[in-house]
Amino acid sequence: MTWSKEFVELDKKRHDRSTFDCGESELNNFIQTRAAKHREIGISRTMLLPGSDSLPNGKYPIYAFYTIAPSSIEREHLPEAWSKKLPRYPVPVFLLAQIAVYREYQNKGLGKVTLTKALEYLWGINFHMSAFAIIVDCLNDKAESFYLKYGFKPMYKDNGKIRMFIPMKVVSKLF
Ligand SMILES: CC(C)(COP(=O)(O)OP(=O)(O)OC[C@H]1O[C@@H](n2cnc3c(N)ncnc32)[C@H](O)[C@@H]1OP(=O)(O)O)[C@@H](O)C(=O)NCCC(=O)NCCS
Repeated sequence: MTWSKEFVELDKKRHDRSTFDCGESELNNFIQTRAAKHREIGISRTMLLPGSDSLPNGKYPIYAFYTIAPSSIEREHLPEAWSKKLPRYPVPVFLLAQIAVYREYQNKGLGKVTLTKALEYLWGINFHMSAFAIIVDCLNDKAESFYLKYGFKPMYKDNGKIRMFIPMKVVSKLF
């Protein structure tokens, strides 16, 4: 099986959500039951990399996906070097709410591709509606190591998850 060249928006009629497995039940559950609903009610958007061949049920398997949503943070949660020029009211950011790669294809560079696509997508949106940074909530230490590799910095821990950020100024240097 090979994957398509482009990330596309989740379409529950075309994409087989039921077979997606990244090894983390929270993310599997999200793509299978909530991602499409969240899009319908207008609170997030999920982009995915489909397989190039359809399954016997006529749908395309999902190799990787990311989910984005608008959000905000308080400047107190940022390191001083980044916070001092910000206002005291909530600061707009983009939330990279989910990122996951199909289990069998992990550790082959697809996570890097998916993260790059997500950053590129958000960088494009930033031209129309500016945000200060992109934030992520890491499920575990492994996810934290993954994001650290790409320049995300830890902000704080909440509910067992580490929240990290990367300023758009830093993202701008990537594209
Ligand atoms: C995290 C995840 C998206 C990474 O995808 P992947 O395809 O396995 O990652 P890649 O093969 O593209 O690796 C990219 C880089 O990150 C590193 N990396 C990948 N997983 C890592 C981990 N668990 N810990 C540390 N580094 C890691 C790789 O070594 C690689 O570095 P390199 O470019 O220097 O070789 C994937 O493992 C996944 O879906 N995990 C389950 C869901 C999850 O935890 N998502 C994060 C939610 S917050």
